[in-house]
Amino acid sequence: MTADLTESAFLAVCRGERPTHVPVWFMRQAGRSLPEYREIRGPGSINHAIANPDLATEITLQPVRRYGVDAAILFSDIVTPVHAIGFGIDIKPGVGPVAEKPIRSAEDLSRLRVLDPDVDMPYVLETVRNLVTELDVPLIGFAGAPFTVASYLIEGGPSKNKALTKSMMLNEPALFAEILDRLADMAIASLTSQVQAGASAVQLFDSWAGCLSPHLYESHVLSASQKIFEAVASLGVPRIHFGINTGELLPLMRSAGADVVGVDWLVPLDVARARLGAESILQGNLDPVLCLAEVPQVEAEVRRIIASNDGNDRWIFNLGHGVLPETNPEVLERVVDVVHAEGHLAWA
Ligand code: CP3
Repeated sequence: MTADLTESAFLAVCRGERPTHVPVWFMRQAGRSLPEYREIRGPGSINHAIANPDLATEITLQPVRRYGVDAAILFSDIVTPVHAIGFGIDIKPGVGPVAEKPIRSAEDLSRLRVLDPDVDMPYVLETVRNLVTELDVPLIGFAGAPFTVASYLIEGGPSKNKALTKSMMLNEPALFAEILDRLADMAIASLTSQVQAGASAVQLFDSWAGCLSPHLYESHVLSASQKIFEAVASLGVPRIHFGINTGELLPLMRSAGADVVGVDWLVPLDVARARLGAESILQGNLDPVLCLAEVPQVEAEVRRIIASNDGNDRWIFNLGHGVLPETNPEVLERVVDVVHAEGHLAWA
């Protein structure tokens, strides 16, 4: 049975309606900080767990059960579609996505073929279909934004300063644009299939866009992300746009077209609203590193963020980035409780 989500606080905020309470969920809520995850995940690459719908379903449900969050996020990864088309990318534990043969020239483009989600990643869609029969909160589907995924494909793995990516952007702008365009089409196909299988909202992760100046973001990256938000608009589900270190990029990211904009901990919520307009819908912005502190200190920080929201009901509480593996789940349980009990008390 599919749950009735008409009362969902998360979806209400995404639609610009006043919810019953401030909704909360955590990026990377499904994963290594949970002992019940470590117990069932199995060894090796998480690609194995992602390709197993029963396991991926259970991992997605675990944080919803434990924390009582207002949304679930699909257990998958931003490089799953690229992996599924056989590009040659793995996710190494403790490292992240690693490409066997990074993109160095136009010849490598042949490995970045069109994604057919039903054929290439049927296990992801089976997980989504399983989840919507089990969940009583909305399921968030997601994709990696073209720039962030491209950075892994060009660098060959995680990288501090994205030197090869930025060099290609300047030296070979046509090749760079073609990579981003193909990744945009892949994200569109992936997000569309997730929504058709039952996801209630989508988030585009542009985690590393914040390494770009507004000029470079606008001239080399914005249009590919814009293409995605335009294409998925007709699916009729809320669209969230996320990045970190993006304080200076917020207006440009908003112009990409999402309904909800992620804010990291470097930008107070009221400052973000001054940049984006009071009517903008924000998601954020507790520093995940602070969740390693003791419960009373974290609670005080949550209350400070509630105050910085300045009584605005267009807000989804989240971390500014993903849950760190060493986080004590009891801290996140308390964060949910405080947001649910106190988040709406200051509403204007
Ligand atoms: O709980 C969730 O948010 C849902 C699932 C999810 C994963 N990755 C599972 C995962 C989501 C939404 C992602 C997104 C993702 N993956 C991003 C964007 C968000 C962000 O954090 O900026 C990025 C950049 C990646 C790429 C990636 N995958 C990295 C950098 C890592 C960490 C590597 C490590 O082990 O330190 C991964 C692996 C990964 N993806 C894990 C999980 C639960 C941890 C790995 C494990 O169990 O081996």
